[in-house]
Amino acid sequence: MTFFIRTFGCQMNVSDSEKMHQLLEERGWTAVGEAEADLIVVNSCAVRSRPQEKVFSYAGRFAGRKKIIIAGCVAQAEKENIFARKVKVNYVVGTHQFHRIGEIADEVRSGGRPGAATAFSRRWPELVPGSRCRSSRVTGFISVMEGCDNFCSYCIVPFTRGREKYRPMDAILCEAEALAGAGYPEIVLLGQNVNHWRDPRGASFAELLRRLAAIAPLGWIRFITSYPGYHEPELVEVMAACRGIARHVHFPAQSGSTRVLKRMNRAYSRSRYLGIIGSFRRAMPEMKFSSDFIVGFPGESEHDFQLTLSLLERVEYESIFSFVYSPRPHTRAAAWEPDVPAALAKERLLALQELQERIQLANNRRRIGETVEVLVTGRHPKKSAEMIGRSESQRVVNFASRTPVGTFTRVRITGAGPHSLRGEEVRTDEGK
Ligand code: SAH
Ligand code: SF4
Ligand code: F3S
Repeated sequence: MTFFIRTFGCQMNVSDSEKMHQLLEERGWTAVGEAEADLIVVNSCAVRSRPQEKVFSYAGRFAGRKKIIIAGCVAQAEKENIFARKVKVNYVVGTHQFHRIGEIADEVRSGGRPGAATAFSRRWPELVPGSRCRSSRVTGFISVMEGCDNFCSYCIVPFTRGREKYRPMDAILCEAEALAGAGYPEIVLLGQNVNHWRDPRGASFAELLRRLAAIAPLGWIRFITSYPGYHEPELVEVMAACRGIARHVHFPAQSGSTRVLKRMNRAYSRSRYLGIIGSFRRAMPEMKFSSDFIVGFPGESEHDFQLTLSLLERVEYESIFSFVYSPRPHTRAAAWEPDVPAALAKERLLALQELQERIQLANNRRRIGETVEVLVTGRHPKKSAEMIGRSESQRVVNFASRTPVGTFTRVRITGAGPHSLRGEEVRTDEGK
């Protein structure tokens, strides 16, 4: 029997899909393309209404022709309600039950009745996908914690991922060593509040990074997503001391207005946030940041929005993800008057994105003439002599090269657009 997993949402879903892939293969299932598969597993995202609806329109394409399992965050948030939808679904598997995907898939195959496995569990399901089941040969994802206790007033994630739980340090180090041994040049630690990770026996997140940085021959170590409210100064010290930790942090601000941050139930102010950014930059002047922003949150005034724009100018982010506020079930803000009209919210989103594009273009142009370290991530889809890579700050770099995918090289920047750089490879023998 054959399967195909379609993943929506964040990297944690990508990581969970890799584990489901492994579990299904262990059970005798064969991974094939979407068209040939008997079973489609949809690993879903519920964070905004649009990604959630995409899950159902995707599943609807296979109606009556294939078996469908909905896994992930929509499965967790909607549970049995999914069966009331038009799309025929064979099973619903929540975020803490994906380790049962093998037995559930077998049951679905043998014509068992539809059901939903959506209980939360305090246990960490220790599963390490083999290289064959991973989505990338360049980036190895390592989940280190799951869940969220913050309950930001707009966010469904605490209801889809449950309370915070942490994976023990030994297991994380062991997976990192295996990835280094298999030649992965980059690892990304995953968690909804990754900087709140701690070992059940006490070690801090900074200590974990210090231990990971000592594993050779690992290249870049990254981690997502950090919650500014959980920032600890020890992280800055460790990053400054360990060159293997990429000097780029995704540090979602959501808004530049303290008043809005309070209503969002974010545990920091604008000035505290800027203070943390400043402390990173004092220790590492080359430090880069990216962020997420929500516009049109209930109660966001024109002044609040201007404060968000000015935060962009103050921090000069490498990149941002920005969204119009989307009311979500279970959340506190869903009950609040949506007082920013949709057209105004859209206008604000475009203004935010336009400003960010100007900032990125100016920053990228300043890099012309610099030589940067680049990790080769793929071939150019159209130009056969060109490779695509990423800089330490996740900026896409295009350059003519024959350096293999997964290798570090150095590129002198010769051109810049808002979203990517172009350059000439200066040395292929002494990457990292
Ligand atoms: N744990 C991360 C965020 C995970 S959700 C953090 O705390 O930063 C990813 C992003 O989706 C969020 O950063 C936020 O910008 C956006 N988001 C979450 N809920 C949203 C909603 N209801 N409407 C619009 N954007 C939302
Ligand atoms: Fe959602 Fe806030 Fe938790 Fe992030 S910290 S997952 S935005 S509730
Ligand atoms: Fe989406 Fe769930 Fe990730 S809601 S963003 S897939 S934690």
